[in-house]
Amino acid sequence: MSEDKKNKNHPDNDQDMMKLVDNLNRKEDVNLNRRAFLKASFGTTVALGLATTPFGVMSAIGNDKEDAERIEIATADELAVGEAKNFNYPTEDEPAVLVRTPDDQYVAYNNKCTHLQCPVFYEHKDNVLLCPCHKGYFDVNSGHPIAGPPQRELPKILLEVKDGKVFAVGREYRHG
Ligand code: FES
Repeated sequence: MSEDKKNKNHPDNDQDMMKLVDNLNRKEDVNLNRRAFLKASFGTTVALGLATTPFGVMSAIGNDKEDAERIEIATADELAVGEAKNFNYPTEDEPAVLVRTPDDQYVAYNNKCTHLQCPVFYEHKDNVLLCPCHKGYFDVNSGHPIAGPPQRELPKILLEVKDGKVFAVGREYRHG
C-alpha cells in the first residue's frame, strides 16, 4: 500500500478532519456573510439611487438638456424666411436641419426620423417637417409628430442668434 493511501485511511486523519469541522463556527460565518451582503446591497442601492436621481428629475420635468459645444451653423441672413439648411450637431455623425420659419423664427432639430431613422426634410409648402419614408410629419415649431408612424419628437437643437450669426448651443430631448 502506498504512503498516501495509508494516510488517507489512518484514524488520526479522520480525527483531524472532525476537529477542523468543529472549529468552524458556521453560525458566525453565516451571520457575517449575511451582514456583509446586506451592507453591500444597501450601499449599491444608495449609489444607484444617487446616480440616477438627475435622470429621474429631468424625466419628471419632461426635459433632458444636453450640454454640447456652441458652434456657428449659419449667418442670420443666409436663409430667407421659409428656407432650411442641413448641418451636423453635436457631432459630425448627427445630421440636423435648421429652418427659418414663415414667422421668422429659427428652429433646428436632429433630422433622423424617430420612426425608423430616415432623414426628415422641411416642406416649405405645408410648413412641416416631412419624413418621406412612411409619410411621417412633424410640427416645425415644436418637432412633435403630427401624422404618420412617428410617435416621438425630434431632438431639438437649442439656438442662439447673436451678432448676425446663428449658433447651436445644446440639444434637448423631450419625452411625451
Ligand atoms: S422612417 Fe420616418 S416615417 Fe418611417
